[in-house]
Amino acid sequence: ARAAVFASGTGSNFQAIMETDDLSCDVVLLVCDQSGAAVIEKAEKLGVPTFVCDPKEHGSRIDYERVLLEKLYESDVSWVFLAGYMRIVGPTLLGEFSARIINIHPSLLPDFPGLDAIGQAYEAGVDSTGVTVHYIDDGIDTGPIIAQEEVPVYPDDTKEQLTERIQQVEHTLYPQVIRQLLEYEE
Ligand code: GRF
Repeated sequence: ARAAVFASGTGSNFQAIMETDDLSCDVVLLVCDQSGAAVIEKAEKLGVPTFVCDPKEHGSRIDYERVLLEKLYESDVSWVFLAGYMRIVGPTLLGEFSARIINIHPSLLPDFPGLDAIGQAYEAGVDSTGVTVHYIDDGIDTGPIIAQEEVPVYPDDTKEQLTERIQQVEHTLYPQVIRQLLEYEE
């Protein structure tokens, strides 16, 4: 299968996906909505075509997503992996790619959905949190869960230490889930 990664920021998950040899699909496109994002340079270094598209240059979410859809079709992509894509996916994309858009979120959903999930868990003082890979639906971090992995929070953790521990888990879990999901695809 051919896939696109959508990202808005650093792109460490994108990088981890790209560095996985037996992913069982080809990532042929990086879509980014932030022109200055570090992930763009990462993609260029890895030789992955990038499509940078600023939603502000399009009248509405529908128009913006139509442009993305066209690019996805042109690239013959059948799966979308969100990796730090800081935007709600609307019905235009969801309708065409339903059950073929997945996301990674740094908490054990349904706990701590939305922004700064790691900070939310840290502030709540929980003794464990984790990582979730899930299908996208029209809510915020509400779609069907595919896989979860727990990550401990230690009493003397700083938020940075916890973030680091969570990211390490993300970087192995996401490629692993992708591989298992797409193993039997053409
Ligand atoms: C990750 O923690 C991911 O779970 C969340 O956004 C972050 C993206 O980090 N959705 P990166 O850009 O992949 O480094």
